[in-house]
Amino acid sequence: MKRAIYPGTFDPITYGHLNILTKATDLFDDIVLAVANVTSKNTLFTTDERYELCKNTIQHVSKVRVEKFDGLAIRFAEEMEAKTIIRGLRAVSDFEYELQLSLMNKNLNPNIETIFLLPDSMYLYLSSSMVRQIVGLGGNLKSYIPFCVEEAIIEKLQNKNN
Ligand code: COA
Repeated sequence: MKRAIYPGTFDPITYGHLNILTKATDLFDDIVLAVANVTSKNTLFTTDERYELCKNTIQHVSKVRVEKFDGLAIRFAEEMEAKTIIRGLRAVSDFEYELQLSLMNKNLNPNIETIFLLPDSMYLYLSSSMVRQIVGLGGNLKSYIPFCVEEAIIEKLQNKNN
């Protein structure tokens, strides 16, 4: 059984993340999309909200389940008995940060590898903050996020402004 975790903040999940996940299903038998309970990022959505949006988005993708985690991603990978951490690599600008993360994780547990998957070109410059901003300003992003995510952003921003 080849199991991997795909950790991230997912604030919110986009079709770019889904694109990486779908590619990963060709390589692994079981993938845990791991929603980080981050405190360092000022997230728009709570961990539970991010978790629910991920669950709704991936419900038709086989081999993938969603979990939340606290603390180190590498510890969560160990807990899940996963041998691999999946990360998406978009533009060159991601590389240095991702290299740093993966080398640190390798130091923490040399038995767990990080692999990088490239998204399809239409998702290369997509990010969650861009999505939050564009939807917040009334832009249409149907090709990049599911309807439930778009609705959730609009509702969240409306509540914030009231
Ligand atoms: N499609 C769309 N956007 C993507 C993407 C893709 N395929 N891949 C990455 N992104 C974007 C995200 O939307 C996010 O955008 P934003 O910054 O505008 O919100 C950005 O890239 C970073 O995303 P993410 O993958 O969530 O990375 P992160 O840096 O927020 O999270 C963790 C990284 C959570 C995996 C990492 O911090 C971690 O492991 N934390 C746990 C603590 C830990 O182990 N620390 C030690 C690490 S050595």
